[in-house]
Amino acid sequence: MENEYEKEADVKSTLITGGAGFIGANYVRRRLQSGDSKVVVLDALTYAGNGASLEGLDDERLTFVHGDIRDSDLVERLLREWECDCVIHFAAESHVDRSISGPDAFIQTNVNGTHALLLAAKRVWLAGEGRPHRFHHVSTDEVYGTLGPGDHPFRETNQYEPNSPYSASKAGSDHLVRAYHHTYGLEVTTTNCSNNYGPYQFPEKLIPLMIVNILLGRNLPVYGDGMQIRDWLYVDDHCAAIDLALERGVSGEVYNIGGDNERPNIEIVKRICEAVEVRFAKDDELKSRFPEGPISRGGAAEDLITYVEDRPGHDRRYAIDFSKAKRDLGYEPTWDFDQGLAATIDWYLQMEPWWRAVMDGTYRDWLELNYAGRSGRG
Ligand code: NAD
Ligand code: TYD
Repeated sequence: MENEYEKEADVKSTLITGGAGFIGANYVRRRLQSGDSKVVVLDALTYAGNGASLEGLDDERLTFVHGDIRDSDLVERLLREWECDCVIHFAAESHVDRSISGPDAFIQTNVNGTHALLLAAKRVWLAGEGRPHRFHHVSTDEVYGTLGPGDHPFRETNQYEPNSPYSASKAGSDHLVRAYHHTYGLEVTTTNCSNNYGPYQFPEKLIPLMIVNILLGRNLPVYGDGMQIRDWLYVDDHCAAIDLALERGVSGEVYNIGGDNERPNIEIVKRICEAVEVRFAKDDELKSRFPEGPISRGGAAEDLITYVEDRPGHDRRYAIDFSKAKRDLGYEPTWDFDQGLAATIDWYLQMEPWWRAVMDGTYRDWLELNYAGRSGRG
């Protein structure tokens, strides 16, 4: 099948939802470093969004719009005004623990929000004779449920068996995207990716939380026995996979994206401890910058490991079979885990003001300081 999006591509602007979040911000940075297309970021700046993650980028090509994906009139207006022929949909409530304590926001954003976007895209792109377009939906491997130790990694053909309100709401969004393709002919692709790590990740997720807690001398909470397995992918590889899906993906298809990097949580935590110690050994100044941490006081980072009560319904193992993406998109992860982890630790050391502002809440002032009175265009 031909890839109409690629063939007729004369990309005017791309609407990126959730571009102030972790993966979205990494993707926007990548997009602005390559090519010359314009980017419109639509982000509600929930607790997980941080305008500072987009600082230092080319203002000419980037427009930030503070708004909610559930507002389909706003989305419709943006698609028309900016002549967007592509949406890359990252915006979501993304933290499993929060979905357990408060599932409502997950249904609102992940299900209703995705539907509002699809509705707007249909109105704009499928009116009259229609025009070339692509809606790329960024989803997760968690929709497939959990694996036993000897099970084959998730294939695209696996049955959906989501176990948390987060994964159930993402599953709902995946189905809506599929239905808009099947019923109305909207050109869509979906990627279901494993756990990402790297720069700009909010320190509530495992890897950044552990790095920051070691620096601050706080406990490293390991849920249950710490033997739950995740497949970890450096965020740049995920962003590259999204570009490949846009360039080479066939409309209506789903591609699993993974890192071939399955590890139990406790191993991840111990490797972070080791890698931070190695970094401290190379740079004496770090001890004075982070006096509260155990390394600065002659102790070991691992001393902070604390086993805590398990997450309810905790999925035991995720693993991804990405042979379809490899075959059809030419996708392959390029970062090895030690390299990715070292780069991530370096980033958190360099970008201390970024995560300090997240932790003390002052990152929430960004909107007022940088964006007062502006909405819509620039
Ligand atoms: P994140 O929580 O860091 O960022 C989400 C962004 O969406 C934030 O900027 C937030 O302000 C914005 N947002 C939330 N609700 C919104 C709304 N109603 N309207 C507009 N903007 C809104 O998430 P992330 O980790 O960057 O994940 C991005 C996407 O990738 C999500 O769809 C997630 O399901 C998926 N994903 C994440 C991972 C991972 O490991 N982080 C892995 C696979 C897939
Ligand atoms: P997380 O980063 O929240 O991603 P997800 O739940 O989407 O996989 O968690 C990754 C794994 O680490 C998951 O098995 C839960 C576990 N975990 C801990 O053991 N302690 C923690 O403090 C956190 C945040 C997660």
